[in-house]
Amino acid sequence: MKATVVTYGCQMNEYDTHLVESQLVSLGADLVSSVDEADFVLLNTCAVRGKPVEKVRSLLGDLRKVKAQRPLVVGMMGCLAQLEEGQQMARKFQVDVLLGPGSLLDIGAALESNERFWGLQFKDELHAHIPPAPTGKLQAHLTIMRGCDHHCTYCIVPTTRGPQVSRHPDDILRELDSLLAAGVQEVTLLGQNVNAYGVDQGARLAGYPTFAELIRMVGRSGVQRVKFTTSHPMNFTEDVAAAIGETPAMCEYIHLPVQSGSNRVLRRMAREYTREKYLTHIEQIRRHVPHAVLATDIIVGFPGETEEDFQDTLSLYDEVGYDSAYMFIYSPRPGTPSYTHFQDLPREVKTERLQRLIVKQKEWSARKNAAKVGTVQQVLLRGDAHDPAFLEGHTSGNHPTVVPKALGADRPGIYPVRIGHATPHMMYGTLLGPDGQPLPELPRHTPEAAALSSPLQMA
Ligand code: SAH
Ligand code: SF4
Ligand code: F3S
Repeated sequence: MKATVVTYGCQMNEYDTHLVESQLVSLGADLVSSVDEADFVLLNTCAVRGKPVEKVRSLLGDLRKVKAQRPLVVGMMGCLAQLEEGQQMARKFQVDVLLGPGSLLDIGAALESNERFWGLQFKDELHAHIPPAPTGKLQAHLTIMRGCDHHCTYCIVPTTRGPQVSRHPDDILRELDSLLAAGVQEVTLLGQNVNAYGVDQGARLAGYPTFAELIRMVGRSGVQRVKFTTSHPMNFTEDVAAAIGETPAMCEYIHLPVQSGSNRVLRRMAREYTREKYLTHIEQIRRHVPHAVLATDIIVGFPGETEEDFQDTLSLYDEVGYDSAYMFIYSPRPGTPSYTHFQDLPREVKTERLQRLIVKQKEWSARKNAAKVGTVQQVLLRGDAHDPAFLEGHTSGNHPTVVPKALGADRPGIYPVRIGHATPHMMYGTLLGPDGQPLPELPRHTPEAAALSSPLQMA
């Protein structure tokens, strides 16, 4: 069987894709990279906003046409598969296999079955399952918990992924060991709300560390770099900031989604913290992690958001001075409380606010990135850039970075780089040798490469 998995959504879905792909390989499938070559196409879906849902709908429509012409098995997994909305689509577009986020290990049973197979249970076996380490990769994801116990009024994730279940620390550390043995240097700990690790449905689990303790445990494993995503401010403790500060492997990139700077909106979102409380967390982070690179998520145009509320978001942005932000227009999701109870704002109001927020984000990113020019950053270079004379990767502050290949530094790895130039979205630098001096660059042959040699010309 030739199989391909098409992935939408967040890093949790990327992890789940890897998990299911490794199951497929162990079942004897060949993984192919295009839908045209495949006789099994599995869509790993996302339901967090309307756009990813519409993408899946249109791809399912295309696949139904292909199915009319040649034998093809179509599958759907991930968050949308768990929802009635997704199941209706599955019926309409003749999907053969449907696996919710808790039933991924049913993939074998699904492919053996001669009839339509739908798996929608949240099964415990998933939590102890350790997928094989990816081969030849410097970076890997490591799920530490699944599901979410919060009830933010706009969010569909608690419905799609179920209540929070923390993975046992022994399973996490075993998976980490296998990643390290495979040569992984940077691990991203994944959960919808990693700060709540070890406290499921309100109860602290016996024998489980807190998230801060888990950070320290992971830091002792010998891994070079650790990041995490994502953390809810409500469950953030000063000990988490302290653990990040005292653990050398922890990246200084910290993602703490705020969603809004207005207390009135935060209340209507049921975020369970205030602007003031959020700012105390930022202050603790700055104290324990002086070089922290701060990122956030913001929703603009939540129902009932006034211009004054939006001004509060803009002023919070300035008060924190974020390095970067993921900014979303509110998308009403059927099945969420805000969809049922609140009136969506006009599209023009939402897009106009998003534009203003993007202007602010660019200003701050430009300012923050410019301050890094002249500094030396440890950059994880994961492979060739678009132009093979260059390597691309990111700093431990998660800034995308491009460097020309140099003598002794022409393959993936973590290297010191002096930043020479920065735009709001990219840094350009020079690879340094052990003596701190620039390494001789490798000769470049293409005209594009010659043009790239002056980063200023690229901007
Ligand atoms: N568990 C994470 C969020 C996961 S969803 C957390 O609480 O931080 C990722 C982001 O999508 C959220 O932070 C939010 O900014 C955005 N999001 C979620 N639901 C949304 C909706 N209905 N409309 C627009 N953005 C949404
Ligand atoms: Fe959604 Fe809120 Fe849970 Fe994040 S914490 S997944 S935004 S309900
Ligand atoms: Fe989307 Fe599910 Fe992730 S809804 S953002 S794939 S948790």
